[in-house]
Amino acid sequence: MDCKVDSLISLMTLDEKIGQMNQYNGFWDITGPKQDKLSQEKITHLRQGLVGSMLNVTGVDEVTYVQKIAVEESRLGIPLIIGFDVIHGFKTISPIPLAESASWDLKAIKQSAAMTAEEAAAHGINWTFAPMVDIYRDARWGRVMEGAGEDPYLGSKIATARVKGFQGEDLSNHRTIAACAKHFAAYGFAEAGKEYNTVDIGTSTLHNIVFPPFKAAKDAGVKTFMNSFNEINGIPATASRFLQRDVLKSEWGFDGFIVSDWDSIGELHEHGVAETDADAASLAINAGSDMDMESGCYVNELKTLVESGAINEALIDDAVKRILKVKFELGLFEDPYKYCNIERQHIVTGQPKFHDAALGMAKKSIVLLKNEGILPLKKSGLRVGLIGQLAADKDSPLGGWRGKADYNSAVSVYEGLKKYTGNSLSYEKGVDVFPEVASFVKEVKVNPKDPSGIKKAVDFAKNKDVVIMVLGEHGFQSGEGRSRTKLDFPGDQQAMLEAVYKVNKNIVLVVNSGRPLVLTWADQNLPAVVQAWQLGTQSGNAIASVLYGDYNPSGKLPMSFPRAVGQLPLYYNYKPTGRGVMEEAVFWSHYIDEDNTPLYPFGYGLSYTNFNYQDLDIVNNYEEDGEIIIKISVTNSGKLEGKEVVQLYLHDKYASITQPLRKLKGFELVQLSPGETKQIEFVLTDHELGFYDNSGAFLVEDGEFDVHLGGDSKQTIKKAFRI
Ligand code: NOJ
Repeated sequence: MDCKVDSLISLMTLDEKIGQMNQYNGFWDITGPKQDKLSQEKITHLRQGLVGSMLNVTGVDEVTYVQKIAVEESRLGIPLIIGFDVIHGFKTISPIPLAESASWDLKAIKQSAAMTAEEAAAHGINWTFAPMVDIYRDARWGRVMEGAGEDPYLGSKIATARVKGFQGEDLSNHRTIAACAKHFAAYGFAEAGKEYNTVDIGTSTLHNIVFPPFKAAKDAGVKTFMNSFNEINGIPATASRFLQRDVLKSEWGFDGFIVSDWDSIGELHEHGVAETDADAASLAINAGSDMDMESGCYVNELKTLVESGAINEALIDDAVKRILKVKFELGLFEDPYKYCNIERQHIVTGQPKFHDAALGMAKKSIVLLKNEGILPLKKSGLRVGLIGQLAADKDSPLGGWRGKADYNSAVSVYEGLKKYTGNSLSYEKGVDVFPEVASFVKEVKVNPKDPSGIKKAVDFAKNKDVVIMVLGEHGFQSGEGRSRTKLDFPGDQQAMLEAVYKVNKNIVLVVNSGRPLVLTWADQNLPAVVQAWQLGTQSGNAIASVLYGDYNPSGKLPMSFPRAVGQLPLYYNYKPTGRGVMEEAVFWSHYIDEDNTPLYPFGYGLSYTNFNYQDLDIVNNYEEDGEIIIKISVTNSGKLEGKEVVQLYLHDKYASITQPLRKLKGFELVQLSPGETKQIEFVLTDHELGFYDNSGAFLVEDGEFDVHLGGDSKQTIKKAFRI
């Protein structure tokens, strides 16, 4: 591989090398602020070999169009690598990544990514800008929908599963695509959850919370990284040598390439660290950003910088080498059109196996938050009423990053329930909250108050045995650029819920959202609450099968759900403070108007059956072979078969650097029949017992540890051991 790449580089002019480092947006769609470049200029650059990659070029026709120019009209004919945000599906849409993460099912998550890759690859795509492996703790940030939640251990496992799913065993296979771990780094810590905001975190959080999923993605063989829009310690990530050269490329030995985020090189000017585009290009290349997404700084400035001696050409060669290597690995040099087969595109799109996987994933993603016995619903003899604009919506379930899904192509809750209830299902929209057609690039404007909708819903609910209310956010109210200050149901939905409750208390609330919302009123008053996120193409079918008990819910929250927005940032793996315990006096770490605890903790989720934990046993072989074996018995004490996520948390009680009171360090999915007991075993080694110090060194320190076992991060049984 090195030989091939080197020999190609030796044929390239400086212009052509810089061209490989230039990525342009296509002429059809955008996923960032509009650029005013003329298509014609981009086409000329393609012919001149000044473009190495394009994004947002999708479908065999579009991809063939640009690839043909690069391959047949440029001097060296180097193929383009074609990138796209294939985040949770291409045409067939899986649940949003946060929802998938609630399954804790690594096999299913890997399979979901593999399906997504296959469908996207059939449409000419060979590189996805996924997985987003950012950790975050603030549900106000819209992009929480795109990641795996708040925990670095779960996040690392899911990062690995997604990378392996997208890239498969063999990257040169036409069904697999290159993955991209993003956004390096700490983008999820935007202050106050406000998109693109400043980040200010300490080194302990950086090394122990932010880095691990990126490291896991690297270890899983991810081919590319994307840097991020934010600064850390006054240095924008795109210009951070520490992040890109020191940590990622040197310490971790990453040999793929780093793409900038959309115009993040150009934005070094707005950050106030680069006066000119040339300064921006110079900062970014020195820091280790290999490819420039859409800013044009590299293609316009690097040549002069090299010729004037300001930039060493060896930096360019290194970047180009990394990019060409991935193109070789994808097999693009052997056949630049290997992803461009129109017949395959038709055959592969929307295959039943994609829908089956999307449905399976959607069921596993649903989290039962509260149930006083009203669920599962009886399949006959009930007058069921369905309320809510989202209940009949076929578009919102596709979520915020829906690839190239067709508008209105999801199964609505209404359609899903009809399969169970037939014509006896009645529906009332109630308040009209969202516009008919919402868009990825524009904010969703919430409709003005609608008292007539509330009255209609109340009248409708009066004579029903059960009312299913589907409320929440539109799919385009989370995602990039969608930060919120309130985590309520937009518009008049809460008022409608409370009004309906006055006439009928048998409400099953189904929440659609791309983030944790504040569900405190619902939790205090309603008999059942179901978190159903945005579940993709098969949304309605999955929700119906859970409500009617054909699927026993098994999802567990990957993010803590707050009682009030004022608790944010909120996360389960918080540190002890000097004053964490309640005293008579007021002088302890708390709020005077709200509990410290979340409404629903990380790892939480109910089932239609119950699980009991007993016989926690520790075999401490640390001295002999470096292993601690933890055993726990889990029993299904209910009447239905069910699946439990057995979770193990550690607390390193005294260490040289303060440690969280609980850190997830193991989990296992276990399927149990009624009455059945299984013993689960976890093995802890230094890997689980240690932590990073403030210089990034990994330490394992002697002392006492508590181990907690249970079905969420709060309800656990505990034992101690020493190493
Ligand atoms: C900006 C987003 O931050 C990034 O995640 C995405 O991949 C690019 N736009 C390209 O659409």
